[in-house]
Amino acid sequence: MNLIVAADKKWGIGKDGGLLAHLPADMKYFREHTEGKAVVMGRKTLESLPGKKGLPKRVNYVLTKNPDFKAERCIAVHTEDELWDAISRYDPENVWLIGGATLYNWFYNMCDRLYVTKMDADLGADTFITNFDEDPDFEIISESEPVTENGITYRFVVYEKKAG
Ligand SMILES: NC(=O)c1ccc[n+]([C@@H]2O[C@H](COP(=O)([O-])OP(=O)(O)OC[C@H]3O[C@@H](n4cnc5c(N)ncnc54)[C@H](OP(=O)(O)O)[C@@H]3O)[C@@H](O)[C@H]2O)c1
Repeated sequence: MNLIVAADKKWGIGKDGGLLAHLPADMKYFREHTEGKAVVMGRKTLESLPGKKGLPKRVNYVLTKNPDFKAERCIAVHTEDELWDAISRYDPENVWLIGGATLYNWFYNMCDRLYVTKMDADLGADTFITNFDEDPDFEIISESEPVTENGITYRFVVYEKKAG
């Protein structure tokens, strides 16, 4: 499984249940990596998406404890075991963890690669993830040139779990 996230300089990822910034090139990067793949998200992230529907052109797995949960284009899973069972049928390269903070923080160390859009700004987040730079199990394997959109400069950074 891989993870994809956009984080500000304090590792903030959200505010008031939504994203911190609208970055069109980052949205394109997200689509290019996840279309045609399975994505895994928490119920709150699903509810932040347009129309509270799963993303098109992807198989959407939504983790929730609610046994009655239903949403368009989504497959609900209710426990971690149910989730691992569901995604074990895919090549791990084709499964993407897309949020939110609860899922990133619990499951990032089960991911092979972490695709982080690092925004060089403090965007006043109320939701944060682990600082991946401080996790000795991961190392940066690529970092793009900076991109600036809507007044925010950011880079596409990829971390990989160290061998062994
Ligand atoms: N910057 C980014 O790239 C990015 C990406 C995604 C999301 N976000 C942001 O992150 C924020 C949402 O994150 P969040 O941490 O509040 O919520 P979340 O992780 O999206 O969802 C949390 C929910 O997932 C379910 N869940 C979590 N662990 C579970 C488990 N072990 N078993 C069963 N269900 C489980 C629960 O749903 P129930 O309460 O239904 O049981 C829980 O309330 C929003 O601001 C969103 O915009 C940012």
